[in-house]
Amino acid sequence: MLLNLPDGSRLTLRTIRPRDKAALTEALHRLSADAVHKRFLSPKPDFTLAELRYLTEIDGADHVALVATPLDRPDRIVAVGRYVRLREAPDTAEIAIVVGDHLHGQGVGRWIGEALADIARDNGIARFTAMMLSDNVAAHRLMDSISKRVRQGPREGGVDNLVLDIAA
Ligand SMILES: CC(C)(COP(=O)(O)OP(=O)(O)OC[C@H]1O[C@@H](n2cnc3c(N)ncnc32)[C@H](O)[C@@H]1OP(=O)(O)O)[C@@H](O)C(=O)NCCC(=O)NCCS
Repeated sequence: MLLNLPDGSRLTLRTIRPRDKAALTEALHRLSADAVHKRFLSPKPDFTLAELRYLTEIDGADHVALVATPLDRPDRIVAVGRYVRLREAPDTAEIAIVVGDHLHGQGVGRWIGEALADIARDNGIARFTAMMLSDNVAAHRLMDSISKRVRQGPREGGVDNLVLDIAA
């Protein structure tokens, strides 16, 4: 899939691959501290090898991760979205998206979110859960934009737990 950005750059979206481990680490290192905090809700200076295996060696149904790369640099990851099905509620998956700071506000997050929702529906998932800081306006708007109905779950220590209906 191809996305033409307002700034003229062009991105493609593909499934993450096991050989993306180094590229994923480089993408983490390019994020601002603010973006890292909003995505992981804690400092995240690096991924462990076990985390890299978990994040890149996915099954494509219960765990899906999409990466956006510049059209001319397919090994440079500039945004990541993933969902992981909940074992205790198989029609539900947790979603998280992060977009490189330089690309914010150009529709990349929504593009990835909608692609994840399409794949999730095909795999029998009816809702996403998402955790985000209560004051993370961009993330709240993004989730609103990919779901017909967003419900506010428990709010704990400045973190919102949202439930997004994504059924067709
Ligand atoms: C949240 C995030 C993924 C959004 O990605 P993005 O590519 O900038 O978002 P988009 O351009 O697709 O915009 C999606 C919605 O957010 C809104 N938005 C984007 N940036 C915004 C900002 N800085 N302030 C307010 N709203 C903003 C857009 O207007 C749009 O809403 P609309 O459909 O009502 O117009 C991105 O800001 C990010 O990576 N943040 C750090 C990580 C994070 O917070 N992840 C969420 C935890 S799951």
